[in-house]
Amino acid sequence: MGMQLRGGLGPALTSNALKDKSADSLISTILHGRPGTPMPPWEKFLSGSEASWITDNPQKGFPDAY
Ligand code: HEM
Repeated sequence: MGMQLRGGLGPALTSNALKDKSADSLISTILHGRPGTPMPPWEKFLSGSEASWITDNPQKGFPDAY
């Protein structure tokens, strides 16, 4: 477990899992959560540009081991 992005309570956040999803929908999921699922909103802790940075890296193929 730990910060391996492979999912557990939530889905995997690896490059392969995210590469075909739209950046806007991922950013919106991070900021607002997904009501009815365990995914909480993070907008009190992250700005839009931080959420964008978080989605950008796996979408560009980083980290590439998974
Ligand atoms: C207590 C911590 C967390 C839990 C329990 C959690 C749980 C979940 C769950 C259950 C989903 C799937 C929602 C659905 O069924 O539609 C989800 C999706 C997602 N989570 Fe989290 N999450 C957590 C933290 C985070 C953090 C810190 C980030 C990034 C900043 C993040 C980013 C995402 C993204 C991008 C998705 C959408 C993935 C996709 O569409 O394939 N989550 N999370």
